[in-house]
Amino acid sequence: ENTPPTLIMIFGATGDLAKRKLFPSLYQLFLKGSLSRRFALLGVGRREWTNDQFKEHVRDSLKASGHSQEQVESFIEHCVYQSHDVSDSNSYIQLKELANELDHKFDLEGNRIFYLAMAPEFFGTITDHLKLDGLTDTNGFTRLVIEKPFGHDLRSASKLNEQIRESFSEDEIYRIDHYLGKEMVQNIEVIRFANALFEPLWNNRFISNIQITSSETLGVEERGRYYEKSGALRDMVQNHMLQMVALLAMEPPINLSTDEIRSEKVRAFRSMRPIEGEEVDKYFVRGQYGAGEINGEAVNGYRDGDNVDDHSNTETFVSGKIMFDNFRWAGVPFYIRTGKRMSVKSTKIVVQFKDIPMNLYYNKEHSLDPNLLVIHIQPDEGITLHLNAKKTNQGVNTTPVQLSYSASSIDGINTPEAYEKLLYDCILGDATNFTHWDEVKLSWSFVDKISDYWEAVRESSFPNYQSGTMGPEKSDELLAEEGFQWWAIGEIDGNKES
Ligand code: BG6
Repeated sequence: ENTPPTLIMIFGATGDLAKRKLFPSLYQLFLKGSLSRRFALLGVGRREWTNDQFKEHVRDSLKASGHSQEQVESFIEHCVYQSHDVSDSNSYIQLKELANELDHKFDLEGNRIFYLAMAPEFFGTITDHLKLDGLTDTNGFTRLVIEKPFGHDLRSASKLNEQIRESFSEDEIYRIDHYLGKEMVQNIEVIRFANALFEPLWNNRFISNIQITSSETLGVEERGRYYEKSGALRDMVQNHMLQMVALLAMEPPINLSTDEIRSEKVRAFRSMRPIEGEEVDKYFVRGQYGAGEINGEAVNGYRDGDNVDDHSNTETFVSGKIMFDNFRWAGVPFYIRTGKRMSVKSTKIVVQFKDIPMNLYYNKEHSLDPNLLVIHIQPDEGITLHLNAKKTNQGVNTTPVQLSYSASSIDGINTPEAYEKLLYDCILGDATNFTHWDEVKLSWSFVDKISDYWEAVRESSFPNYQSGTMGPEKSDELLAEEGFQWWAIGEIDGNKES
C-alpha cells in the first residue's frame, strides 16, 4: 500500500535514534516504494546545522544500507533541517513557515507527523507550542509519535498525558513500544488466532506456565544517568515485557481493528493480579550485575559504570511471576525475566503445556518431556514445537523432537526493522501496534507498586549476579517453588543451549 503524502518532522534529528533507526527505516520504505514520493523529512534539533550538514548526516546514516548513490541522493532531496529552541515561540513560527513551504513544494496536503525522538522532559513543552504556534493547524492529518519513556511512574505519566492531550487527541497520539514492531511479537496473535491447534488449548486446563525471557549481553554502557533513575523494571517490564504478556493472555478480539485489540489488551491488564508490599518479595526478584565475563572478555560491575552510584540500589535484572485472576488463566503463572549483562542476547517465549494425564511410556531412563511451544522473537525469528516421538528401532521408547519454522529462512527475506513497520503504520494511520493510554496507565499502576516497595526496602545483596550469567539464583527459585524451571531453549536450527 502506498502511503499518503506526509511531512515527517523529527525533533531530535541530530540524535542517536534518528541516525540509527529513523532515517534508515524511512529510507527502506522509500526504496521499497512504500513511501509516497510526496514526502518531506524535516529534521529539527538544537544544533546550528546547515541543510548541507544535515544532509551529510543523513547520508552517513544510510551508509550501512549499501544502496546506489543515486537512490540515496533522491531520498536526500526530501530532507531539510531547521535548528530550534524548544521553548522559544519564534522557533516554532519559523518552523511553521518552513513546514508550509515544504507542504507547497512537495504537495503534502497538510499532512504532518511530529516525531519526538528526544528527552522526555521536553515532550509537553513541544506539544504545547505545536498547537499554540499553529503547526497543528492544517487541512490534513496531524499525528504525534512519542518515544519512551512515557513517564517515570503513573503520576508523571498521567501528567504528561494530560499535557499532550491539550494539543492532540488520543487517536492522534502514537506511543512507541518498539517491541510491538517486531515481526514475531506481531506473530503472537496470528499463531494464537489463525491455528485450530492452539487456541482451544490456550488456557489453564492445558497450559502449566508461560515464560518470557528478554536477555541482553550489553551492560548499561553510557546510559548510567538515565538508568540509575529507571532500572530494569521501568526500562523493560512496564512496556515491552507487559505488552508481550498482554498479547499472550488476552481474549480473542471480535475483529482485528485497533479498538477491539486494544480493548482486549486492556482487559488482560485489568485482570493481572496486583502485587504490593511484602508480597513483592514472593513474586518478584531483582538483580544487579557484578563483574564477570561476556564472550570471554572481563567486564566491570554495574556500580563501576559511569554516572552510577557506588552503592546503587538500581536493579539491572528483574524476574517475576504474574498471575491473572480470570477464568482463562487462574492458576497459571506467567514468568517474566529480563536483564542486562546476561549470557546471551535473546528474546523468547516458552509456552509449557501440562503433562498428559497418564504416561504409558515411562521407564526409568526417561520420563516424558512436556510439550513446549517456543516463539523465537530475536535474534532468530520463528517457532519451535517440542513433541515426543518414537525412538526409531527402539521398541516403545520415546524421544523428544522439534518441529521448527524459521521466519527468515522460509520467507527468504530479512524481516524489516521494527521502526520501519511502525513508521509505516503511523503514516497510514494504523495505531494497532502503538500503546493506548489505558494500557500505559494500567501497566504503570502494576509496576509502581513493585518499585515503591523496592525503593523503600533496599536490596542488601547487590550485586547479586555475575555478568555473563542468567541472573541471581533466586530467579530460579521463583519457578522451582512450583516445580518448574527456566527452559534453556536453543536456536531454531542447531541446538546451542542459551
Ligand atoms: C529499550 C531499553 O527500550 O529496549 C534498552 O531502553 C534495551 O535498555 C532495549 O536495551 C532492548 O531492545 P531490543 O530491541 O534490543 O531487545
